[in-house]
Amino acid sequence: SETDKNYLLHSIREIEDFPKPGIKFKDITTLLGDAKAFTMLMEHLVARYKDMDIDYVAGIESRGFIFGAALASQLKTCFVPIRKPGKLPYTTISEKYSLEYGVDAVSIHIDAFSTAGKSKPNVLLIDDLIATGGTATAAVNLINKAGAHCIEACFILNLTFLQGDLDIKKTTPVYSVLEVL
Ligand code: PRP
Ligand code: MG
Repeated sequence: SETDKNYLLHSIREIEDFPKPGIKFKDITTLLGDAKAFTMLMEHLVARYKDMDIDYVAGIESRGFIFGAALASQLKTCFVPIRKPGKLPYTTISEKYSLEYGVDAVSIHIDAFSTAGKSKPNVLLIDDLIATGGTATAAVNLINKAGAHCIEACFILNLTFLQGDLDIKKTTPVYSVLEVL
């Protein structure tokens, strides 16, 4: 409901000028530290995804791990970490993306989606926030490169004024629990 969404939105703290001047940082630790907010959010996500035939929940390092692992466990499905380069120990595949200055990348284990015993398992991608969309777009591409099907990209918060979801939406549904206009 609108009341619940308002409660959730207000459970996220805003920190001015972090990590740089002019940035209003969305601090989800206050959501996680509010049992009513965290439970409400997880119940909402479980209700949305329980009948979608999801084989894997893939979370983006690091804040996407928190929500992704909790959701995978509640859906009784697998969890796959999408990590920053150089962190995963086995053979990986990576996808680069551009930042304001320079490039970054995300990686996944080459066999991350092999345990479901399906040729194209369904993967739900989750992260806490989509801003420019660089990270999430690369993560969707990575899931598809790894031989799975990204059935939806889910975000707790979408900074919609940045239109970071435009590229993903060309190929993959996007769902945001909360939006900042
Ligand atoms: C933040 C956020 C998203 C990403 C969104 O993560 O958690 O993952 O940025 O930005 P984008 O849409 O412009 O790509 P960050 O890289 O700060 O790392 P963290 O999750 O480890 O804190
Ligand atoms: Mg992140």
